[in-house]
Amino acid sequence: MEVIICSTAADAGRVAAGKVAQVAKARGPEVVIGFSTGSSPLATYADLTRRIDSGELDLSQAWGFALDEYVGLEPGHPESYAEVIRTTVTEPLRMNPERVFTPNGFAENLQTAGPEYEEQIRAAGGIDVQILGVGANGHIGFNEPGSSLASRTRIKTLTTQTRQDNSRFFASIDDVPRHCLTQGLGTIMEAKNVVLVAQGEGKADAIAGLVEGPVGSGCPGSVLQFHPSVTIVLDEAAAARLERADHYRETFEHKPQWQRFE
Ligand code: GLP
Repeated sequence: MEVIICSTAADAGRVAAGKVAQVAKARGPEVVIGFSTGSSPLATYADLTRRIDSGELDLSQAWGFALDEYVGLEPGHPESYAEVIRTTVTEPLRMNPERVFTPNGFAENLQTAGPEYEEQIRAAGGIDVQILGVGANGHIGFNEPGSSLASRTRIKTLTTQTRQDNSRFFASIDDVPRHCLTQGLGTIMEAKNVVLVAQGEGKADAIAGLVEGPVGSGCPGSVLQFHPSVTIVLDEAAAARLERADHYRETFEHKPQWQRFE
């Protein structure tokens, strides 16, 4: 795991976007990118947009896959993740909407919707770089504590904490769906590269557990300790409870030039 501690959220966005851009350039025009919703990756998307606007990066032929979706929100619902991905990712990054997918939380058969989504990811060649945020309870995607570390895309029940956290986007907590479809932890682990971004003190415990805690389903994101290519990009507040923060800073400062993407 590479842990990079940045002084501001904007800086973290620039560094995370640098890693995504590096993978995209190495992989070519049809790079497959996994996208997360939530506020965490917005600075990353802003910096990717800047790179696209300047002509440094072109994602017009790339493929995109969202991590998760609420169950039961009708297509076009402004808080459905399909809509959020359209407005925060597909449009600003000038991607082809026919190549950007979200799990179908409105499917008649939710049991087959998960495996079908996995098939779409496989058909595109697998995810080259997965962009992740993290929930305050350590969830990635919507894999709440207790999720199988080998899980695949499936229906899950959201915790009350997650519904409360996400109620800021809805009129009240009662309007936040109870269920979701999410890529599983096993699915996320198949991405070739993972870039996780977190900001703010509300994420400090989750990050400490994910990076330095024992691997276990109590902190689902900790499964990433088994992944061979993970970049964790934090602001100071999210890094505040890391015991080895000084070592991460030193490592970054002395990183060989050939390894740099920032
Ligand atoms: C949401 C999403 C996750 C996201 C997380 C954190 O519920 N399903 O993909 O990473 O919670 O959200 P935020 O970045 O807004 O804090």
